[in-house]
Amino acid sequence: MKNISTKLINSGKDEALKTINTINPPLHRASTVLFDSYADMLKANKGEFEGVEYGTCGMAAQKAFEAAMVELEGAHGCKTFQSGIAAIAMVLMAYTKQGDHILICDNVYGPTRHFCDGFLSKYGVEAEYLPSDAGAGVAEYIRENTTLLFMESPGSNTLEIQDVPAITEICREKGVVSVIDNTWATPLYFNPFEHGVDVSIQSCTKYITGHSDILLGSVSTNEQSWAAFAKCCGLFEVFAAQEDCYQALRGLRTLKVRLKAHEEAALEIAKWLEGHEMVESVIHPALESHPQHDLWKRYFKGSSGLFAFTLKNKYEDIDHSPFVDNLELFGLGYSWGGYKSLITGGKFRRTNHFGYEGKTIFRLNIGLEDVEDLKADLAQGLDRLK
Ligand SMILES: Cc1ncc(COP(=O)(O)O)c(C=O)c1O
Repeated sequence: MKNISTKLINSGKDEALKTINTINPPLHRASTVLFDSYADMLKANKGEFEGVEYGTCGMAAQKAFEAAMVELEGAHGCKTFQSGIAAIAMVLMAYTKQGDHILICDNVYGPTRHFCDGFLSKYGVEAEYLPSDAGAGVAEYIRENTTLLFMESPGSNTLEIQDVPAITEICREKGVVSVIDNTWATPLYFNPFEHGVDVSIQSCTKYITGHSDILLGSVSTNEQSWAAFAKCCGLFEVFAAQEDCYQALRGLRTLKVRLKAHEEAALEIAKWLEGHEMVESVIHPALESHPQHDLWKRYFKGSSGLFAFTLKNKYEDIDHSPFVDNLELFGLGYSWGGYKSLITGGKFRRTNHFGYEGKTIFRLNIGLEDVEDLKADLAQGLDRLK
C-alpha cells in the first residue's frame, strides 16, 4: 500500500492510457514521454529510437494532421509549425547555407521577404527577386550557387501567377529546390507535387482552420527533399500546439464545402465590382481580365475567396477612409481565409516592373455572409468617396 503523497502523483495514470475509440484524435499535454524500457532510452540517446521520445516530436493530434496533409497533397512527409511564417522561415533555413543565392518571386507575403532581407542576409545568403509572373525565364537568373527558388502563386496581395511547371522543370535540371506558398489555392485547388514542386507550404491559419482564431503553418515535401528538412526541424525541435493541430484536422473535414462557398461568393462580387463605375480593375485569377488567366485555367481546379481591386485614377489620390471606415460587414484587418469578410488597403512596392505601381490595392477576403448584403455594403462605402 503506497502512502498518500505517492498516490497523489500516480493514481489514475493507467486508466488514462487506455485507448478509447473516438473518431477524432486525443489531445495530449506532454513534455515528458515515458519509455517502456531502458533499452529504448539508450536508443533515444543515440538518436536511434523510432517512436515519440519527447513532447517536441509531436503528439497524436499533430501526427494525425500531418498524416492527413501527406495524404491530401501526395507528399512524402509533413511538419507543422506555430504559424505560416514560422513554416516559411524553417524552409528558408533548411535549404540554405552561407554563400548561397536564392530566388524569390516578387509578390511573396511581405514577412517572407523581410525574413530573407533581414535574417538570411546576416548569414551570407543572398536573395534576388524574380518578376511575379515568372515562368521559364527563371533560367537566366540561376547561378552556380543558387540553391532555392520560392514561389507564391497567386501572390496573396496582387495575385500574379507563376508558371509553376515551367519553373520546376528548370529547377530540377539545375538542382535547385523549388518551394511554393500554396495558401491561396489550398491543396484542393492546386496540388504542388503534381506540378513538380519539391516543397509545399500552407498557412493553415487561413482556409484550413477557417475561423480566424488559430495560427498554424505546415510544410510538406517530396521524398528527395524530406531528409534535409526533417534534419533542420530536428535541430530546432519545432512543434505545434496540439489544440491547434486538432482544430486544423477538424477544419480539413469541412474545407471542401467552405472553400466552394468562398469561391462562389468571391466570383460573384468580383464580377459585380468589374461593372462598378468607380472601379478600374478587379484582380482575380478566375476573371478573363486577369493577366495570367490562361495559366489559372490550365493549372488550377478552382479559385478561393481572396482577390483585390483598384479604383479609377479620379478616386486614387484622395482619402479612402470614408469608404473603408464605413463598411459595416467587412472587418479592417490582416489575414484571410476565415468566415468573416475582411478588407485591407495600401500600395505595394516591387523590385521588378509591376502593373499596379502607385495604385492603392484594396484586397477583399470574402467570407460566408450573404452576397447581396456584402455588395450593398461595398456599394454604400464606395458612394462615400463621390
Ligand atoms: C500567402 C501567405 N503566406 C503565409 C502567411 C503567414 O501565415 P501566418 O499568418 O500563419 O503566419 C500569410 C499571412 O497572411 C499569407 O498571406
